[in-house]
Amino acid sequence: MTRRKVLGWCAAGCVGLGMSQFDNRNDLRIERSQLKLPRWDADGFTAAFLSDMHTDSRQQGERAAHAARMAIQEKPDVILVGGDFVSSMSPMALPLALSFVDVLMESKIPCYAVLGNHDYWVKETPRVIRELSSKLQTKRSRLLRNETVEVSGVTIAGVDDGIAGRDRHDFLARHHDKNTLLMFHEPDFVVRVDKRASLMLAGHSHGGQMCLPFGISLHTPRGAKKYIKGFYDHAKVPLYVSRGIGTVGPDRRVFCPPEVSILTLSGA
Ligand SMILES: [Fe+2]
Repeated sequence: MTRRKVLGWCAAGCVGLGMSQFDNRNDLRIERSQLKLPRWDADGFTAAFLSDMHTDSRQQGERAAHAARMAIQEKPDVILVGGDFVSSMSPMALPLALSFVDVLMESKIPCYAVLGNHDYWVKETPRVIRELSSKLQTKRSRLLRNETVEVSGVTIAGVDDGIAGRDRHDFLARHHDKNTLLMFHEPDFVVRVDKRASLMLAGHSHGGQMCLPFGISLHTPRGAKKYIKGFYDHAKVPLYVSRGIGTVGPDRRVFCPPEVSILTLSGA
């Protein structure tokens, strides 16, 4: 073995060790935000937002279920789910996604969800949509695909996925000019949404997933280049982007812990 090879192996070992030391994929955090919104008068309304579960392995499924339990403990007025339930059709992906939904359903807290690009990229998308939709079809929960529901005087609008080309933006009614929470998986597509929405909630970016110290992101996917994490009050409509719960690619997060967002809303 040459000296160069030995040095290469040593460097790879150091990077691997560093990655494992900083890996915070299981370090689920509650991110609490008090957001002031111009088109809002339901002061104190609280939404929990979960996104990007990617329940492709048992560990990912357990993380998603744990995030669901953390959200429930906060006793929000509504739980919103921002898409990317699955990202492969490993035999356990869909059952784990359905178990995650089961945890949410047991709480009796109203719960509404949209789909993400990965839900459309798996081999058996029709089955994924059918089973998620049927599991979420109760008096107080639903998969929203370009439609709205009302929860305690607040409109929940769910836009179907943008990368998959399933989004529509003409379904808000005339009276939806305030107290409207709109979910749309890809944050950069905020430019497409109806301006009357009070707040858009998005995921998709994973906050960069593998970041430099202080959470500086190195790469984000198409649809999450401009808006990556946190609150953007000067977007076309106010926008909150979650770092999400799961992972894509290597099951690792570096300087980018997964989040359960708890958003308490009031008028600006
Ligand atoms: Fe996504």
